[in-house]
Amino acid sequence: MSMRTAIILAAGQGSRMKSAMPKVMHRIAGRPMINHLIAACVPAFDRVIVVIGPDMPQLAAAVAPHATVIQVERLGTGHAARMAAPLLEGETGDVAVLYGDNPLVTTATLERLVAARLGTDLALLAMRPADPARYGRVVQDAAGAVERIVEWADANEAERAIGLCNAGVVCAAWPDLSRWLAGLKSDNRQSEFYLTDVVGAAHAEGRRAVAVEAPERELRGINTRIELASAEAEVQALLREAAMLGGATLVHPESVTLSHDTRLGQDVVVEPQVVFAPGVTVEDGVAIRAFSHLEQCVVRTGAIIGPYARLRPGTEVGVGAHVGNFVELKAAHLGAGAKANHLTYLGDVTVGAGANIGAGTITCNYDGVNKHRTEIGAGAFIGSDTALVAPVRVGARAVTAAGSVITEDVPDDALAIARGRQANKPGRGAKGKT
Ligand code: UD1
Ligand code: MG
Repeated sequence: MSMRTAIILAAGQGSRMKSAMPKVMHRIAGRPMINHLIAACVPAFDRVIVVIGPDMPQLAAAVAPHATVIQVERLGTGHAARMAAPLLEGETGDVAVLYGDNPLVTTATLERLVAARLGTDLALLAMRPADPARYGRVVQDAAGAVERIVEWADANEAERAIGLCNAGVVCAAWPDLSRWLAGLKSDNRQSEFYLTDVVGAAHAEGRRAVAVEAPERELRGINTRIELASAEAEVQALLREAAMLGGATLVHPESVTLSHDTRLGQDVVVEPQVVFAPGVTVEDGVAIRAFSHLEQCVVRTGAIIGPYARLRPGTEVGVGAHVGNFVELKAAHLGAGAKANHLTYLGDVTVGAGANIGAGTITCNYDGVNKHRTEIGAGAFIGSDTALVAPVRVGARAVTAAGSVITEDVPDDALAIARGRQANKPGRGAKGKT
């Protein structure tokens, strides 16, 4: 069998994150780190195997349908890589080992690594970070061949002065790599089996290893929430640049939060302080005004959203529709040109084209047990402060009077009034006067 395999190590607890959640489940641009890394690996490898811990069901679910193997005792990165061996029996192709907490590597860099391996016995990714901190250092001979990697904890002063750092990705033919992994020892400062020692093992056999350099931006490790925040900032900057190059105006880019999958069309204008949670598509010519929050929704051409609008999952705002301030939409389909401009909650609802939803309209979609649907026909006019008690249907061109509590269907073209009658009591308003 000759396949290209990526083994991603993600069994560590990530103690420096101080979190109940596995480190690689922490999100960057709305997506867990591990899924960023898998997305980069998929085009460059034929299969992906993820090494996880024994108590990480959410991680296993997040990486599906890719294979997982469990490392019960966390005895180091080299030990973790060995856990994948049973799935690789008889494999003759190349295997790369990656760390789940280095999630920003690009497919192009992984392809450079795989290509470099063809000309040598072992290829690894390395970087020259501004601050080499506690990364493992790459020790090279005079000709630039890599002799070994020394962990920061085990390095002497001269070794710590080396600027070339190990990014934690090695690639070799599996028959070689599995032999080097099997020979690892844990006689070091941390009493762990270091994956990085396979480099020294290759050198000891007289085999050749080369370092493929890539920018720190791609290869940085994330061990703390401070590093997570700075990775987030970098990814956000790249996403904003891509959105602007794609023809969207971000009036104050630094204040806009995007997700890895946000799609903004041409001539979309995004005002300050807008958050795009995952799963948002915005078509051409849409205005997203300040302080709006959008998640798993589609906004069709020419619509106007906000300021202060909240679009929740399952929402679709039709062509040229308007959604104004303090309007919350959940699983709401607004037809073309429909308007809901002020202080409204529309949940589990279909609104026909051109309908007008008055200020303060509320769909009462939840009875405490079940959710129910509301249908509003094309051209309907929902008076201000209407409560629509679902399940209920308001017909096309129908009108509801302001302040109505609508509990029964309203036929097409009808006017529904459902409110207490006003009674005026002469003189009673002037308290204290006789
Ligand atoms: C590691 C490298 C270091 C490199 C740095 C790059 C080793 C020994 N050191 O250090 O040279 O500069 O990454 O970021 O490899 N893991 C397991 N099982 C284990 C231990 C770790 O699956 O028993 C996983 C972790 O979940 C993590 C990855 O391996 O995703 C790396 O482990 P981590 O402890 O973060 O290693 P570093 O100290 O960062
Ligand atoms: Mg790390």
